[in-house]
Amino acid sequence: MNMILLGAPGAGKGTQAELLAQRLSIPAISTGNMLRDAMANGSELGKQVRTYMDGGLLVPDELILSIVADRVAQPDCSNGFILDGVPRTLAQAEALDQKGIGIDHVVSLEIDDDVIERRMTGRRVCSHCGSSYHIDAHPPKTAGICDQCGGELAVRKDDAPETVRRRLEIYHQSTEPLKDYYARSGKLRILDGSQSIEDVQQSILKAIGDLV
Ligand code: AP5
Repeated sequence: MNMILLGAPGAGKGTQAELLAQRLSIPAISTGNMLRDAMANGSELGKQVRTYMDGGLLVPDELILSIVADRVAQPDCSNGFILDGVPRTLAQAEALDQKGIGIDHVVSLEIDDDVIERRMTGRRVCSHCGSSYHIDAHPPKTAGICDQCGGELAVRKDDAPETVRRRLEIYHQSTEPLKDYYARSGKLRILDGSQSIEDVQQSILKAIGDLV
């Protein structure tokens, strides 16, 4: 079960990837979380990507492909994985194919840009493990504290309204064309990402044949 979650920034990819990972017992691989970890650790990769990430720009393909290839080669991916936030360009999608990283399902979560802009103002993320919350739609049990690890919740730097708008523009320009790429291989399922978190999860499970 190798799966890609496509969708605009804030469409709910990370939220759904975490739920799917628990249900299917396979890892969710978020390139955004991996890059934020690298920045937090002060690694060379973190230094290289900070300007792109803070500005809402895409990180160069070669950096992304290297970390993804390493990650999916880990033993915990042997029964499958969920890619959240990658591929994001045609070059990334083609490179995954060329590296022999097979994909069984591609789910695109669709949602209007204006709904996303409103959603992003309520997002809080764990500064320790990266888990994502929303102050109304998905609040933590204790305000400001991560349910998973007890870490402190914070607003992401790239969730500033003007940066969100730039990220949406880049999504429409560079990532949305991937829908045609995966539609051609018959793997794409387009789902309504504006439903409740639970309803989106049920739609994904049905789309991948895990629920009838
Ligand atoms: P990344 O971290 O991947 O950010 P993103 O794709 O922009 O997606 P988000 O994390 O913003 O949103 P999401 O779809 O996961 O939504 P979430 O579930 O959190 O990437 C960040 C940066 O890293 C990029 O800008 C780029 O610089 C770099 N990068 C990463 N990957 C790259 C790549 N492959 N190539 C190049 N550069 C790359 O939900 C959002 C909010 O809504 C949350 O508060 C959540 O609780 C809430 N919510 C979720 N679902 C619902 C629902 N159904 N109803 C109501 N609220 C909901």
